[in-house]
Amino acid sequence: MTDQAVQQEWVRMPAAAADGAACNASQYEAMYARSIEDADGFWAEQAARLDWFEKPTKVADWSFDPVDIKWFEDGKLNICHNAVDRHVDAGNGNRVALIFEPDDPEGEVRHITYAELQGEVVRMANSLKKLGVAKGDRVTIYMPMVPEGAFAMLACARIGAIHSVIFGGFSPDAIAGRVEDCESDWIVTADQGLRGSKKVPLKANVDAALEKVPAKGVLVVSHTGADVAMTEGRDHWYHEYSADVADECPCEPMNAEDPLFILYTSGSTGSPKGVVHTTGGYSVWTETTFRYVFDYRPGEIYWCTADIGWVTGHSYIVYGPLQNGATALMFEGVPNYPDHDRFWAVCEKHKVNIFYTAPTAIRALMREGEGHVAKHDLSSLRVMGSVGEPINPEAWRWYHETVGGGTVPIVDTWWQTETGGIMITTLPGAHDMKPGSAGKPFFGVCPQLVDNDGAVLEGATEGNLCITRSWPGQARTVYGDHDRFIQTYFSTYKGKYFTGDGCRRDKDGYYWITGRVDDVINVSGHRMGTAEVESALVLHAKVSEAAVVGYPHDIKGQGIYCYVTLNAGEEHSDELMGELRQWVRKEIGPIATPDHLHFTPALPKTRSGKIMRRILRKIAENDYGSLGDTSTLADPGIVDTLIDGRMNR
Ligand code: PRX
Repeated sequence: MTDQAVQQEWVRMPAAAADGAACNASQYEAMYARSIEDADGFWAEQAARLDWFEKPTKVADWSFDPVDIKWFEDGKLNICHNAVDRHVDAGNGNRVALIFEPDDPEGEVRHITYAELQGEVVRMANSLKKLGVAKGDRVTIYMPMVPEGAFAMLACARIGAIHSVIFGGFSPDAIAGRVEDCESDWIVTADQGLRGSKKVPLKANVDAALEKVPAKGVLVVSHTGADVAMTEGRDHWYHEYSADVADECPCEPMNAEDPLFILYTSGSTGSPKGVVHTTGGYSVWTETTFRYVFDYRPGEIYWCTADIGWVTGHSYIVYGPLQNGATALMFEGVPNYPDHDRFWAVCEKHKVNIFYTAPTAIRALMREGEGHVAKHDLSSLRVMGSVGEPINPEAWRWYHETVGGGTVPIVDTWWQTETGGIMITTLPGAHDMKPGSAGKPFFGVCPQLVDNDGAVLEGATEGNLCITRSWPGQARTVYGDHDRFIQTYFSTYKGKYFTGDGCRRDKDGYYWITGRVDDVINVSGHRMGTAEVESALVLHAKVSEAAVVGYPHDIKGQGIYCYVTLNAGEEHSDELMGELRQWVRKEIGPIATPDHLHFTPALPKTRSGKIMRRILRKIAENDYGSLGDTSTLADPGIVDTLIDGRMNR
């Protein structure tokens, strides 16, 4: 299909989806218009669904030039109260908040009610206090996908501590860097994690990290029961340490602009940034987006397959669903263990109604054939979502037809760690869909496309995606480096938030994200700064220089392609290739494992020494016909050498 034909391919919203929906088509138009014309009135109304210790008298107060963003600034609330206690207080304590499906399909399923959740969160909160954690302190959470991870997040929120969750797949070095950056004295972890029956040595990784940076205390949840090393005075088994804590712990009244969490994410330069979200705006944004985008209905089972170590897990496993009093499933395992039908088996087993996953998983499962899906009764599914990277229309159609039987609306939700929650998406009861397009802006979101010089592009067009107005869930700063926040997001196009994404808008006003336009790549929906992989490679004693680019990958969306030059006298070999792969895994974590290593005697540089990445991208893509102008290269001959190297692989 041509791009044109793809853009015109409509998939009609099933009529039934509009019945009883949180928002139908005409409501969307009216609500969107009001969210822009009377933003304060609109957001005050959304915010009123939450409990506030002190109701805000001000709603929005922001400027993108100079950068200063505040929402609900004189309000006081606690997101843990809204996610947990509020439901218990309202008489819904017996409702199931979390369902835990373990890695092993024969393992024990846990159903945790809101009342039980409250008890667990209080126990964790008081244990943190017993360690010495106080309001404003940073607590690192490095956990497997078990309910205790959510308890730890909510416990921090409850006492006003700022959590920094680190994905369980990161290496000790990555942990150390993040712990150091936010000066976090406390860590919550587990003995081990489990993924597809493989054990992940979480506690051992924390120990290795803490050889580089100090910590005052480590709480260790016993999950697999492994016998792990415990450092006297610093490490405590959670079940023992929490045995004598009080069973009450009031929620700390937080100012709306008090930080709630830090989440590290990759940018185009430097080390990962600690993106900071604050309490009030993030609470309102995640509550509202979850409510309308997933059209959650009481009693339904909602499952987001993300990990709580990513923003999707923060906003759409923990805070969004729980603030809505939903039942959210947490799955510890992986899509292909014990077999490629695991997702569908879990959907059938728990009668999942709303299912939210990533294109990379859909593509991987699509490759295994329809048989794995057909084995299972998926008739409970009512809404399905996609997130993390562009979904190719072929995968979209497979998801829609094979998994959803052609009748379940799909929401392709575009957003970012920095946006806190969903920004562009269709709504299940309001919009027809187009495979491959995220759709329309959510309430209060004003997307704008600009060219490289910042000129605004109107109508059907393609350009760089900016957002021109603040929204409640917007990140407020980069931890410890507000200048970097301003520089990264507000300096490319003055007065606008720049997303780093390229985007097309079609004649129907639907948005199509085309991918990153900066040096960030998206590998299986995980954001990776090419600079980070380069820094890891050059730390190896034999490597002189490295340049990393993304290239199209059938399953992962993008793969990691590394050009490497070795120090004089070093020889390349298969052995060295394996060693460098392991090296990057050790430095960053398995998600950064290079897909391709290309040894080259030199990199293409301009006379001023700047690497021409455009050429490296094209060669990695096997696209040699359109390399563009290479005359400014110091040594144009290097291009042929690189192409030879690529073709002879
Ligand atoms: O490039 C976009 C892509 O993921 C980036 C954000 O990554 P991260 O902060 O890790 O958050 C991922 C989960 C929200 C974006 O800049 N992206 C995310 N969702 C989509 C997407 N690209 C296309 N379509 C999406 N639905």
